[in-house]
Amino acid sequence: MIEITEIELGVTADMHVHLREGKMMELITPTVREGGVAVAYIMPNLVPPITTIDKVVEYKKQLEALSPTTTFLMSFYLSKDLSPELINEAAKIGAIQGVKCYPAGVTTNSAHGVDPNDFTAFYPIFEALEANNLVLNIHGESPPKKDSDDIHILNAESKFLPILSKLHSDFPNLKIILEHCTSQDAVEAIEKLNAGYKDGDKVTVAGTITAHHLSLTIDSWAGNPINFCKPVAKFPSDRNHLVKAATSGKPYFFFGSDSAPHPIEGKARHTGVCAGIYTQKYALSYVAEVFEKNNKLENLKTFVTDAGVSFYEVKDVKCSDKCWLVKDKFNVPEVISSKDVTVVPFKAGDELQWKVEWRK
Ligand code: DOR
Ligand code: ZN
Repeated sequence: MIEITEIELGVTADMHVHLREGKMMELITPTVREGGVAVAYIMPNLVPPITTIDKVVEYKKQLEALSPTTTFLMSFYLSKDLSPELINEAAKIGAIQGVKCYPAGVTTNSAHGVDPNDFTAFYPIFEALEANNLVLNIHGESPPKKDSDDIHILNAESKFLPILSKLHSDFPNLKIILEHCTSQDAVEAIEKLNAGYKDGDKVTVAGTITAHHLSLTIDSWAGNPINFCKPVAKFPSDRNHLVKAATSGKPYFFFGSDSAPHPIEGKARHTGVCAGIYTQKYALSYVAEVFEKNNKLENLKTFVTDAGVSFYEVKDVKCSDKCWLVKDKFNVPEVISSKDVTVVPFKAGDELQWKVEWRK
């Protein structure tokens, strides 16, 4: 067998990225391109969250100043501050590509989130998204209402899945993403909702999968706050189903890194550690490694480029170069830092096999 030593990935897309603000944003934003990603879908969970056109336009400008050749797709944070009129206006000027829904209290900066047990108040927003062909991005974890609900971090995603099915049946043409799938149940739910899918059909319900959930399991974060994120990594069997879905070449599973940097201090607090794993700078290298190990390198481009670009119907991209991966060993640095902030990257110190190159 001939060993593959380079792979052309084209206009790569990471459809779930946290870039923050201030010094963290300055440090992290350029690492999107350094990590081999041309198109990035940016999460709105700033403090306060992004719910206005002015804010989203201003934020995009700041990101573009830091990385002029990255294409940033922007989003609003689902909350009572949104209205159908605002969605229509934002869609008209191309200010956003979607709206992110956070159940209140389940993760970082989700205090302004919503109660997914009753979405009816947001149905007019979902109608506006559907009418404008925008995306509803969902953090799919059910928050417990009371102790007797028996909802916890290991089953919160599974408990959310009936809500996803209901949303899809109420809005069959709304493009919905179950973000960062972590369980066999989530993979099976996405498969079931795409049961009649035939080549060339438009995908309406998709699941994104991160780089870290392709390797982590519960043992990796219980005891190591660097590997703690939401939803948490589950059991080895869940991880294996994620790997199978990601490497399947199916257009309804694509890459969303959920790269979520936190200052190192936030990962070592006695008051509770921050949820989020920073993968951006080596995002594609981590993923390529998993595809190679599973003899599925031929499906890597579908996962990190074609499926996401096609789901979002991305038209204009700012970068004319193509991303390539070349076989060339290197070690992940122990930290990524500026004089103001230090972040510990995923797999710090480990050796990776695939390096990013941008070519004409
Ligand atoms: O682990 C996570 N970190 N999950 C999220 O949903 C949010 C993210 C963050 O913003 O840090
Ligand atoms: Zn996220």
